[in-house]
Amino acid sequence: MTIKELLALEESAEEGLQNTWLGYTKTKGSHELREDISAIYSKITAEDMTVCTGAQEPIFLLSHAILSPDDEVIVQSPCYQSLQSVPESIGCKVLNWDVHYEGNRPTFDIGHLKNLISNKTKAIYLNAPHNPTGFLFTKEEQQAIVELARANNIIILCDEVYRELEHSPEFAIPAFADA
Ligand SMILES: Cc1ncc(COP(=O)(O)O)c(C=O)c1O
Repeated sequence: MTIKELLALEESAEEGLQNTWLGYTKTKGSHELREDISAIYSKITAEDMTVCTGAQEPIFLLSHAILSPDDEVIVQSPCYQSLQSVPESIGCKVLNWDVHYEGNRPTFDIGHLKNLISNKTKAIYLNAPHNPTGFLFTKEEQQAIVELARANNIIILCDEVYRELEHSPEFAIPAFADA
């Protein structure tokens, strides 16, 4: 898609772009943009969010905000490399929550996740829908993960860069931030 095609999607978009101020904006992103983004969540408001450039930047920022070298992080594996390499670069021990295959179907076993949790676990890094397997949790699995994290005071980072690309809306699950 070109910028011209993109701007054609909304009547006043071209004029809006031409009048865009190029000085400093709010660090968290403009209020208007955050309001628009909040429409894809049910409980998350503009006040709760910080706009980032792409998905790598928030993985880096959040990791540096919450992790210390003594922490352990559980990461769905295989994964988009930053989800593993950024915690490692901070000095954390990274434990892999490995995919299993039932025939051709990738699955992630909640019992296995439970076994990986220790009193040093600071965060669980997820990616849903998952790159590279295409796996997506059911709502029940999502709730079980949220409850495990809550019970153990663990932060969930879920990379949802492929959310809304489900093959059918019936497979969609809430954003982890909402869950
Ligand atoms: C799961 C996942 N997270 C993050 C990214 C990076 O996103 P961005 O290029 O928007 O920083 C990718 C890109 O392939 C990805 O597959």
